[in-house]
Amino acid sequence: MAYYYKLGTIPPKRHTQFRQPDNSLYKEELVSSKGFSGIYSNLYHTYSPTQVKKVLEPVRYDTPTVESPLLQTHLKTSNAGSTGGDYLEARKIVLKNADVALAICNPTVLAMDYFYKNGEADEVLYVHDGEGVLYSQFGKLPFKKGDYVVIPRTTIYKLTFTEAPRLLVIESTSPVETVKRYRNELGQLEEHSPYCERDIHPPQELVIEEGEGDFLVKIKKQGYLHQYIYAHSPLDVVGWDGFLFPYTLSIYDFEPVTGRIHLPPPIHQTFQAWGFVICSFVPRLFDYHPLAIPAPYNHSNIDSDEVLFYAEGEFMSRKGIDRGSFTLHPGGLPHGPHPGTVEKSIGAKETNEYAVMIDTFKPLHLTAEGMKFVDDNYPYSWNE
Ligand SMILES: [Fe+2]
Repeated sequence: MAYYYKLGTIPPKRHTQFRQPDNSLYKEELVSSKGFSGIYSNLYHTYSPTQVKKVLEPVRYDTPTVESPLLQTHLKTSNAGSTGGDYLEARKIVLKNADVALAICNPTVLAMDYFYKNGEADEVLYVHDGEGVLYSQFGKLPFKKGDYVVIPRTTIYKLTFTEAPRLLVIESTSPVETVKRYRNELGQLEEHSPYCERDIHPPQELVIEEGEGDFLVKIKKQGYLHQYIYAHSPLDVVGWDGFLFPYTLSIYDFEPVTGRIHLPPPIHQTFQAWGFVICSFVPRLFDYHPLAIPAPYNHSNIDSDEVLFYAEGEFMSRKGIDRGSFTLHPGGLPHGPHPGTVEKSIGAKETNEYAVMIDTFKPLHLTAEGMKFVDDNYPYSWNE
């Protein structure tokens, strides 16, 4: 994250003696990205973060892709009810490639009784329905409907929900960052950015758990959940500071950019990562040229696959797509507005749609979970 933040108590100088009330030292931990060259934070633990009580058998946790032809794809995930009991069981990857995996997650268990850490990917949760709290070493981070919850890899966390949620989970093998062209040379979001630092919400307060016990941390790495039992809670941090921490950004705080004629998708960009971008389509005034056509033109993404997750409202260029469904328009085929939607858009003043778009630069592949939701008629849905 591109700003400095701190919570709790930290010593005035890093890497110096910082003592507990019993005169023992707090245990400092540097959590750094890109080796020692990226963003980082320094955490101060009551107990050593390296003390392992027991390592249990790893559990396979992988979603292989399946062979599928080149097709315009509609996944009717709006129909998905509960996708599993707890948060990890409920995460069902529907599309993925080497850079990113997209999952739906509709759990029924409202509180996790273990901690989880993604050891190889940053995660972005788009909260489609529900609200709750993410507890991590960095503190308590409340989230609600419409939030992107950005979780840097290696964050050890636990979620609680106040009602059964529906989440879109985006796993990125590279860091998820704010958009470079929105930042000045010192990292501050510029005036033309659709959101600014005030819209980015870091953890609010530390939660400190003391005492001994059996604390299970499930670590996702290379197709397994590795299960570690620690003698102390990972929530033993009395203070931290730095640029690396989980945060929320609400889609409702994304300020749209509009023009006299149709503007292309990069104006909706919200995050960047290696190999894909995340964009937000939000309610906005339509194009105001007297002859403007607000619906998009047909286009060929010659080097990207385009995924839309339909969050709220009626999406003006699509027919037959429900809230909570995905479309995938792969590179290699042109796509465009559905019949009738172009004429219908002329003269319209505004849209109330919300959608999350993920554009990938490598082809995406369906998984067996994704296949369950395929709408066989969608490739023919542009016929009059
Ligand atoms: Fe498109």
